[in-house]
Amino acid sequence: MKKILVCFGTRPEAIKMCSLVHELQKQNFECKVCVTAQHREMLDQVLDFFEITPDYDLNIMKPNQSLNQLSGNIFLKMDEVFSSFLPDLVLVHGDTTTSSIVAWAAFNYGIKVGHVEAGLRTFDKKSPFPEEMNRQITGKIADYHFAPTLASERNLIKENVEKENIVITGNTVIDSLLWTEKKLDNGFVNEKINELQHIIDADKKTILVTSHRRENFGQGFIDVCNALIEIAKDKTIEIIFPVHLNPNVRKPVFELLSNHSNIHLIEPLDYPSFVWLMKQSYLIITDSGGIQEEAPSLGKPVLVMRDTTERPEAVEAKTVLLVGTDKIKIVENTKLLLKDKNLYQKMAQSYNPYGDGKANEKIIKYLNNKL
Ligand code: UD1
Ligand code: UDP
Repeated sequence: MKKILVCFGTRPEAIKMCSLVHELQKQNFECKVCVTAQHREMLDQVLDFFEITPDYDLNIMKPNQSLNQLSGNIFLKMDEVFSSFLPDLVLVHGDTTTSSIVAWAAFNYGIKVGHVEAGLRTFDKKSPFPEEMNRQITGKIADYHFAPTLASERNLIKENVEKENIVITGNTVIDSLLWTEKKLDNGFVNEKINELQHIIDADKKTILVTSHRRENFGQGFIDVCNALIEIAKDKTIEIIFPVHLNPNVRKPVFELLSNHSNIHLIEPLDYPSFVWLMKQSYLIITDSGGIQEEAPSLGKPVLVMRDTTERPEAVEAKTVLLVGTDKIKIVENTKLLLKDKNLYQKMAQSYNPYGDGKANEKIIKYLNNKL
């Protein structure tokens, strides 16, 4: 029986890989899960919901550690994993330091690598930082590339990846989102959802905000906070902001936004509560990659606080709009979407260029043929 090791370390990778793990475990593979725990609390929230207990937990998160500390620790600990379980294939996801270093560690052992969410590019190595280079490194090492869209396949072909090693799958985030929505539709509730029901005022429009990108640290975050203060002057809206655990995010956000009656700063939400909250929201303002991919399935417009994007599909489909961290652009576009019903409806169309929830099925079909 062929052996597969699925590796991830952060919240978004976990969300996008857990539904694939569920499906792989139904197949004729010996499938084990290794988490680096680059994130700790935010990773565990996802593992709990998807009921996955990792076979290997490298437990490497340290408060505010540097990218080089993080990378060095992952390399060292992957030695221990491979000396106990030598898989035929390692599956990594996307763009994190976990993905690129695990891929490299596997390459050093002569183990094949499959890259889920392959081929996203801005071709600007500083933005998003360090994700663009993480993607390019992982893409260079990977043997099999699971590209979410035609555009991501084209990027890989430009980099001389053989077409037969690429398969267009859609994004596994949609599989996970649909699985979660079904649970919510079937009556899933938890304490957090109950608490959120008390925060949300049904007479007001909810604007959901998240932010964590490294290239926005410093002035970018200050500008975003000032934009939110301006938006919150309109008392017919309510801002809910689950604040990422990175200290570089928490400091400016709590310093600048704590004392506003209609800005609610809350802890990161477990995945079903977050999906529930997205569904209740009128508008989402974020710099997150995953949320841009999920929101079109829920018919929610997104203002993206980034200057460049490796996800052009949603911009082209006009379900998201890039506004950067420019205060005026964020405020003006929010006001427009609150006022202009036609514009809102155009952005709120629920066509999703990132897939239909069948990504896992396509990945497994390909692996069954290849391995
Ligand atoms: C990481 C990824 C980024 C991804 C993002 C998703 C890298 C370099 N960055 O960024 O690509 O988009 O996750 O959220 O791979 N922390 C906690 N608890 C947690 C998580 C983080 O306390 O559960 C704090 C710690 O102090 C940690 C710091 O946040 O050292 C930074 O975490 P890190 O994974 O390095 O970067 P993120 O900004 O979370
Ligand atoms: N998310 C969550 N709880 C939160 C905020 C986000 O579960 O409080 C989910 C969200 O639905 C998406 C993923 O986390 O699937 C996005 O993670 P993040 O923004 O941290 O990373 P990125 O996608 O930018 O890499």
